[in-house]
Order: sequence, then structure tokens, then C-alpha cells
Amino acid sequence: MKSEEIRRRFLEFFKRRGHAIVPGASLVPENDPSALFTTAGMQPLVPYLLGEPHPAGTRLVNIQKCVRTQDIEEVGDKTHDTFFEMLGNWSLGDYFKSEAIEWSYEFLTSHEEGLGLDTSRLYITVFGGNDAVPDIDRETAKIWESFGVSPSRIYFMEGDTNWWSPGENGPCGPDSEMFYDVTPDGLGDLTKDEFIRADKEQKVVEVWNDVFMEYEKRGGRVIGMLKNKNVDTGAGLERLSMVMQQKDNIFETDLFIPIMQAVEALAPAGDIRAKRIIADHIRTAVFIIGDGIIPSNTDRGYILRRLIRRAVRYADALRIHEGNLADIADVVIQKYGGIYENLVSGHGHIKTTIAEEASKFRMTLAKGLREFEKMSQSGISGKEAFILFSTYGFPFEVLRELAEEKGILIDEMAFASALAKHQEVSRAGAERKFKGGLAGHSEKEMQYHTATHLLNQALREVLGDDIMQKGSNITQERLRFDFSYPEKITDEQKKEVEDIVNEQIRRALPVTYEEMTIDEARRRGAIGIFDEKYGERVKVYQIGNEELGIFSLEFCGGPHVQNTSELIGTFKIIKEEAVAAGIRRIKAVLE
Ligand code: ALA
Repeated sequence: MKSEEIRRRFLEFFKRRGHAIVPGASLVPENDPSALFTTAGMQPLVPYLLGEPHPAGTRLVNIQKCVRTQDIEEVGDKTHDTFFEMLGNWSLGDYFKSEAIEWSYEFLTSHEEGLGLDTSRLYITVFGGNDAVPDIDRETAKIWESFGVSPSRIYFMEGDTNWWSPGENGPCGPDSEMFYDVTPDGLGDLTKDEFIRADKEQKVVEVWNDVFMEYEKRGGRVIGMLKNKNVDTGAGLERLSMVMQQKDNIFETDLFIPIMQAVEALAPAGDIRAKRIIADHIRTAVFIIGDGIIPSNTDRGYILRRLIRRAVRYADALRIHEGNLADIADVVIQKYGGIYENLVSGHGHIKTTIAEEASKFRMTLAKGLREFEKMSQSGISGKEAFILFSTYGFPFEVLRELAEEKGILIDEMAFASALAKHQEVSRAGAERKFKGGLAGHSEKEMQYHTATHLLNQALREVLGDDIMQKGSNITQERLRFDFSYPEKITDEQKKEVEDIVNEQIRRALPVTYEEMTIDEARRRGAIGIFDEKYGERVKVYQIGNEELGIFSLEFCGGPHVQNTSELIGTFKIIKEEAVAAGIRRIKAVLE
């Protein structure tokens, strides 16, 4: 069964069961600069999972393009790719576990309407409890059994293995995952340990995930139940194609065959892993550029740059000329253009962008080579190797090969330690960005952080002392603040809040902090999210002083500006909305 038929059957199947077919979103998340790319079908639907009504109703089905690069080193094995499409059906407070499981099972196994997969190759995992929610999900296991799955093929997984959450904040919950045996002879019954090993060895692959989203997470902890019990499902089109086409890897499915053929035509011999990496990275680059990103040194642009550069390195290893690398984009666009029209309209731009980035990188490499020649007389120190790597983008593997050719030594240990330090820093940055929260301590973010304290206090003055902070997220572009309040904020109230904040900026109040016990902080009336343990010392930030008056006193780890006059611009609320029952969200900027 071709991937087109899988797409069609999936949408039809759920349409017949009352689901509205909705379009997938862009790879670039809307209104959320803290997330780099859409990484799951649920991501664009977060507001609806949190309780906002969706215009198309309570049952939705869609196909969402996703980019995930955290496993980039794994690409080239059987099942990893950086771009994939996720088939998803959604219940927004409508059906729950029974129907979700029944339909997953039916779609996977029905010959008429679904995929007609072999039930003797199916394995199921179920949530086995974690710290936040200790209850083992026996209910789900029972439902699987009621559809004929043997208890010996159902495994309870503890911890976060079967717990799905998109990050520090948002909807989350236990999940149940379906795995399919892709070995030629079939593995038969497996103990839990055998199953876990088979998964690691890619003998069984996860093809579908049903998430029972009924919890909410804030600041990394589960804070309670959502207004609705939702279902979020995800089935990877590449992996479903793989099992339907009886392959043991995604690169031999119809989704990749033409792309792999294009790579192979350019490099008939050579390492299969390198070819897969090129096919994957160019495919992902095409989609990312198609959604409006260009290569750069930060964030999304950097991920794109890294994908193209990696493709160039592997192309080099296979002796593929750079121009031809961009030609692979043609094949990708031909394969996907019927479904993603933006690729067709952006064809010229996509191809030029890849070609230019590749050729720029080659120039950088050539410069690096000249530097290498200069350095190499007397051997290469770890620091020099690192400069070649970081400034000239000179891949270490290439460096090592060259050094070997010339019979000179590189201080690899020193290089490795410089690299480790560098990666720690950039990984920490990327993770912060991914999870939301305070994304790096840049100047603008610090200003927004202080502005958030001003806003928190101003809201109390206008709406009353009962409001409670429920979350906050800061980027270089804006602040976001969630708080408990039962109704919409009127335009007059918004104006009043803005005026109060701007007044404090104008008054140039000093911002200072003191460490104290949590009791002392409470006694002084500090506000903020109290999640420290009893007896612990906390930082309390104060805006204002005895002389000018203390405007705000709030628990917080910092950092902040030293004076409110450092907040550049006028504070303005750009959006006010509900994110869940009784929870409002404000987005504001300094402009
Ligand atoms: N949100 C779930 C996943 O991405 C379905 O696996």
C-alpha cells in the first residue's frame, strides 16, 4: 500500500467516525517564538486541548508535518528522520480511551477500511505510573484485551516512557503505544525485557501513540486536571509506510525511494548511511525553506544551516558535486508538491537557497583548508583544531583524515574537551528555548522579566488580590503571563494595567533582591509561585524602595534589570485570551 493510500484511508476512516478533516499547520509555530519547529500534531492544537472551542468541532483528524532534530545523530539507521508526517485523530473533550483504542486497533487491522496489519505482530505498551501520577493505567490494558490483544503482549511501562508532554507547560497525560514486528519470521510472544530489547534493535517499531490528555503541566510539574479529557494520537506516516510495504527501514518506502534514487544516481557506490543522511537532510531542508526560513546563525535558521552543511559533508564523502545536491530538492518537491502546494510555488527559491548555502559552506571549507596548511607544519593543537571546527566549519573527521595523510598529529583530547565545553553551552541554550521559560538571559529578556513583575502587581491593583500567577514565558519578542481570573479583561482594565506599568518605568524604580526564608518572604507579603520547600531560603525581588515606595515584592530566581528605567519602550498588551476555564493569558510587548 502506497503512502498516498495510507493518507487517504486514515482521513476517510476518521471522517466516517464524525471527525472533521482539518489542515495541518506550518512547521514554524505561530505565536510561539519559544518553540523552534512544530514537533508533534498536538502542538498547533494546544489552545484547544486546554479548553478553547475549536471552530471545526470536538472530533478532528489531520496530517501534520513535523521536524525533530534531537535524534539527528541517529538519522541513517532504519527508522530515524528529521522530518516526518504525523497522522492524528483528536477528541477535544469528546470520546476518550475506549473509542480511541478501538479505532486505533480497527484502523491498523481492518482490511476493508484500514491497513489490514497482522495482529500476531502487534505489541502494546501502557502507562505504568510515574511520580506525578502513580496510578497504573489498568483500564487501558483492559480495553486492549477486550479487542482481542493477549495480556502477554501488553507491557506496563513505568516512569515517563508512556507519559506524553510537550515540554514544561501545557496539556499532558499517559499514553498507550502500538509496536509492529518487522522481522522476516516474526518474533512471537516476548517477555517485557525481550520486547524492550527488540525495540532497541529496531525489530519492533512504534507505529502509533494514543495520548489520553487530561492533565496540565506548569513550570515542569503536573498541577492538576484539564477542563476536558482529550485524546491526542500520532502515527508516523513513514513508519506505517514501512510496515505496509514490508520493509525494515523507512528509506525503502515510496516516500523515500525517488529521493534515494536521486542520491544513488549521483553516487552509485558508497556508504548507505551517508546516502540516507543526504536524502533526509535535503528533504527536511526543502520543507523548512518552504515554510519561510532561511539559513542563519541562530535558532531555526541555524538548524536549517546545520542540515544543509551536514548534507554537504556527506556529499563530499560520496564525491557528489554541490550543484547536484540542490537537484535532489527537485525530486523532493516532485514527490510532495501534490500535497504541499507551497513547495511548488517556492520551488525556485528553495533550490537557490540550498545551492547558495552549500556553496558558501564549501568556500568556508576551502578557507579552513588554507588555515590548516598554515598550521600544519608543526602539528595541530587542540585549540587550533577547535578554531578550524568552530570558525571555519571544518569537520573534525576531515581534519583527522588530512592530518593522517600528512603524517602529523592532532591533539584530539584537547579538541574533545574544547568541543564538549562548547556543546554544553549551546545545548543548554537550545534546551531552554525548546522547553520555553526564560530563553537565555539576553538584555531584552531581562527587561521582559522585570516587566512581568510589574504586570503581575498591576493586575492585582486593577483586578484584585485574588489573581494567581499560573505560568509565564519570555522571549526576546514578548512576555506571556497566565493567571487565574474568571472573566475577560475589559479594554478599560487593560488600559489601566498598561498605564500602571508605564508609570513605574517612568519613575525609574531600583530593582534589588534579598535572600530570606520562605516564611519571612510570606510575612512580608511577597507574591509569586511558591514551589520551594518549607524552610528553604528564597530570593525576593523588590521593585522600588522605602523612599519611593515599594511597588512589587516577588519570589523569583532572577535575573532582572537594575532599574525600571532600563525597560526600553512603552508597555503594551497585545493579546488577552482564555487558555483554560478560569485562566487568562496576556501577551505584552515593550515597543
Ligand atoms: N503527541 C503524541 C506524539 O507525538 C501523539 O507521539
